[in-house]
Amino acid sequence: MTSDSRSDEHAQYDFIVVSNRLPVDRVIDAEGVETWQRSPGGLVTALEPVMKASEGAWVGWAGKPDLQLAPFTDNGTYLVPVPLSPGEIEQYYEGFSNDTLWPLYHDVIAPPSFHREWWDAYVSVNQRFADASARIAAPGATVWVQDYQLQLVPKMLREQRPDLTIGFFNHIPFPPYGIYAQLPWRKQVIEGLLGADVIGFQRVADAGNFSRAVRRLFGYATRTPEIHVPDGPSGHRSVIAKAFPISIDVASFEELARRPDVQARAQQIRDDLGNPSTIMLGVDRLDYTKGIRHRLKAFGELLRDGATKPGETVLVQVASPSRERVAAYMQLRDEIELTVGRLNGTYATISHPVVSYLHHGYPREEMVALYLAADVMLVTALRDGMNLVAKEYVACRHDEDGVLLLSEFAGAADELKNALLVNPHDIDGLKESMLQAMRMPQRERTTRMRALRRRLVDNDVARWSQSFLDTLRHANHHSDAR
Ligand code: G6P
Repeated sequence: MTSDSRSDEHAQYDFIVVSNRLPVDRVIDAEGVETWQRSPGGLVTALEPVMKASEGAWVGWAGKPDLQLAPFTDNGTYLVPVPLSPGEIEQYYEGFSNDTLWPLYHDVIAPPSFHREWWDAYVSVNQRFADASARIAAPGATVWVQDYQLQLVPKMLREQRPDLTIGFFNHIPFPPYGIYAQLPWRKQVIEGLLGADVIGFQRVADAGNFSRAVRRLFGYATRTPEIHVPDGPSGHRSVIAKAFPISIDVASFEELARRPDVQARAQQIRDDLGNPSTIMLGVDRLDYTKGIRHRLKAFGELLRDGATKPGETVLVQVASPSRERVAAYMQLRDEIELTVGRLNGTYATISHPVVSYLHHGYPREEMVALYLAADVMLVTALRDGMNLVAKEYVACRHDEDGVLLLSEFAGAADELKNALLVNPHDIDGLKESMLQAMRMPQRERTTRMRALRRRLVDNDVARWSQSFLDTLRHANHHSDAR
């Protein structure tokens, strides 16, 4: 990856992405030399072609406190770092974004905390992102704002720059009104979002929840997918609120899965685990929305009941560290690690652990090898905007084998209907589905996987960004942008 530190104070861009995190991570090597590495996330891959075609810019936080970095160009994209102080990280990122909005938008699985100082920090940090974007936007540019951390940016941008075409995409669920209504700043957040021309959601249900909240709180007329927002003394603006289910770069996952070295690694993983009849796999950020506890409980009961035994089935759980300074995440980690310890302590033998628990992130090659090694993929989220792990597993299984067990509360369940759909709260149901997955005849595995793969290739991430940006282009006829 090449990177230079050129910065041009007067640079203007026609296409700008704004997200909490920049698409690169700052790494410092053994000699203390600083470099930037493209982060492995789907959004970066999704927007890469669009960025290249338009020489776009990306505004975001570099992930560390108090970094005052000049903008720089990396791989053809102009990156504009937005600094956050330690106090802002606490109040805007860990606080309002991840201890207020995150639990609230995920159906209050954990109780959200409401603090006025956190809200104040959220407003001022959102303003900083909006200002940074407004400064580099060419006349009539398109700005695409991403996710729940930046919901006020669309309105703030429109106020400064009415010439812009503004899109917003919410990567997480939008909750039903009865839950959303708890938010003390519920009106300000919706006003913030309505500054956009197009507001994208993962599921049709999320877009519906949003439109209902607009009707309840403001009484604006809606005609799906349009919302009529009063604008000026007599007129109105039309805002589109619609589902655009996000996806992955299917071809690049399949390409990795076909590489002989990755396949050899998958075989080595199976050998290292003692070649059990069934490898079950969970891959999640260590987050309470992911249903990791429910999955461990169901598996523990199968072992207790003697329905499966060590050496026959092993559960590999990759839990990548996440938001480690937020109390709910610390508590979750303790609970999961206690449960894993108990399960292994009770059921494992010297040669056969029942749970192989890995609290790390891994490079994509290793993840793909794990997907290839796994007979059963467990996605048991209690609530999830989409869940791209489910899609990655399907993309990798060009052998048309492997069983996907998928929570009906993950957005991916709207598309991946040929998975074994489960309600993760129903532990008996979950146990039955795990057994069904372990015992599923080869023919049924193939039929299901084939159908899943057909569905996946229809909607890959390039299609996602194209359809969002097409809608955005048509939504704002007055602008000659993009
Ligand atoms: C979810 C959110 C993203 C976020 C990611 C990782 O996927 O939708 O906006 O970046 O989690 O969380 P983090 O707090 O580490 O950015």
